[in-house]
Amino acid sequence: LRIARTAAELDLDLTRPIGFVPTMGAFHEGHLQLMRRAREECEQVVVSLFVNPLQFGPKEDFARYPRDEARDAEMAESVGADVLFAPGLEEVYPNKVTTIVHVPEVTDLWEGAQRPGHFDGVATVVAKLFNLVRPHIAFFGRKDLQQCTVVQRMVDDLNMPIRLSIEPTVREADGLAMSSRNRYLSPEHRAIAPQIHLQMSQSKQNILRGDSPVKECEEARNRLNAAGFSVDYFAYVDSRSMLPLESYSQGANLICAARLGTTRLIDNILVE
Ligand code: PAF
Repeated sequence: LRIARTAAELDLDLTRPIGFVPTMGAFHEGHLQLMRRAREECEQVVVSLFVNPLQFGPKEDFARYPRDEARDAEMAESVGADVLFAPGLEEVYPNKVTTIVHVPEVTDLWEGAQRPGHFDGVATVVAKLFNLVRPHIAFFGRKDLQQCTVVQRMVDDLNMPIRLSIEPTVREADGLAMSSRNRYLSPEHRAIAPQIHLQMSQSKQNILRGDSPVKECEEARNRLNAAGFSVDYFAYVDSRSMLPLESYSQGANLICAARLGTTRLIDNILVE
């Protein structure tokens, strides 16, 4: 595995397929799965590691976000990544004030509403990373469903010559979606965290059986709040528009964000 600090050091052959996994590090099995998929599909595999300040709100966890480049490099190497692109702040944001990529509509609700400016930060850094790495295929985890929708909309709107490959959420044995933020959970909170996925699976069954998605989502919110979560949203949405749906629609998703103490967890499930 090579470590590149600048785009020049990437030293890729642009004529052969480049697979790209953008990350903020603190790797877990979900990241490794994206890298394995890139390895299967592409001749050259680039993993970026950049904790992007632009996508964190002023009260969020940018300063305490877990950072361990040596461990991440070892893990990326173990699944056959070719290059770890770990640029410094000055490489990614040489200008104090940068051009911002704003993706409309699909950013209005859910994470976009709860975390103002978050998706401007994501879209801007992903556009910059795409231009620096020039991948043919970029791999994203479905756990961040709205992020996948936002990046796909940006790629479509700006005619970026890149295919996105959206990979299934990797879960712990008890169903908790893997996330770098799970390590913030206290043992007590870790014990109840899987209830998000359990509730989503139950709500999925109820909606497939014919229950009203609106009523089901309201009941799910109440149950999770009663179990100790502070639910930001639990909704049934179309994943292309990210708009809520009032009745069953094929291919729609349940999405949820809920807090346990200061840790915010998100998850989603396809209702099909
Ligand atoms: O999903 C993430 O880790 C980040 O949002 C991404 C895509 C690497 C952009 O900083």
